[in-house]
Amino acid sequence: MKELDHFEDELIERFRQHPVFRDVDRMSEDAFHDILLQRRFLSHTFTTVYDLAIDLLTDERAVRIARVIIREEYPDDKSSGPPPSHREDMKTDILQLGVPWRRFVESRPSAATGQVISDVFALILDAATGDHANTKLVTILRFWGEILVSVEYNELWRRMEKHLLVNGENRSLFYYPHLKHDAKTRPLAEASPLSLTHSDQLGVRLSQLISATPDTWESFKAVESAVFEYKTRFYDQFLPALS
Ligand SMILES: [Fe+2]
Repeated sequence: MKELDHFEDELIERFRQHPVFRDVDRMSEDAFHDILLQRRFLSHTFTTVYDLAIDLLTDERAVRIARVIIREEYPDDKSSGPPPSHREDMKTDILQLGVPWRRFVESRPSAATGQVISDVFALILDAATGDHANTKLVTILRFWGEILVSVEYNELWRRMEKHLLVNGENRSLFYYPHLKHDAKTRPLAEASPLSLTHSDQLGVRLSQLISATPDTWESFKAVESAVFEYKTRFYDQFLPALS
């Protein structure tokens, strides 16, 4: 299991070193807004990704964890009616970050964003048809939907905080809370139900699935490599904005 953690931590570190994150401070305002607007379309597929995986999982315990996570996207308050969903909070943050309303309304997914979205759907569908389907599906949810999301928002936060930290008050409703509660805080080998981040909750079940079935390591690595490639390709589309 330590070997898998090491493999995963290396991918996380390589992703963190993406030139767009490294140079996010010297991008133009327009180019930074473009990242936020394209990234928004990936966020809108978050619940579809979870629903699709829930359809295909046969491991009841994994399904239960995924159900809880997806419902957190739509908080409920029985007395005063539902508050804004996480995606509505994202919209608030995007506008607080200075994206003009007109640009928000007129933005469309780029070809690269659309390709990444269809590739991740295909990855999920393919995962379910082969060996170790449950391990692969939980790996995708945890790495695509949680761990790397937290890395993305952590890196973009350096630029966001200039707008969202006001007189010591953190006004971020979406990006900051997600960079915290999605993070990998423990190695897979030490996964514990006591850790409350989404990555770690999925990590508990994932480490059980991996230990229960021999030869799952290669599946885990193949799926994480694919996720890493898609996320990297998503940010590669912004490289021209650095030159
Ligand atoms: Fe999450």
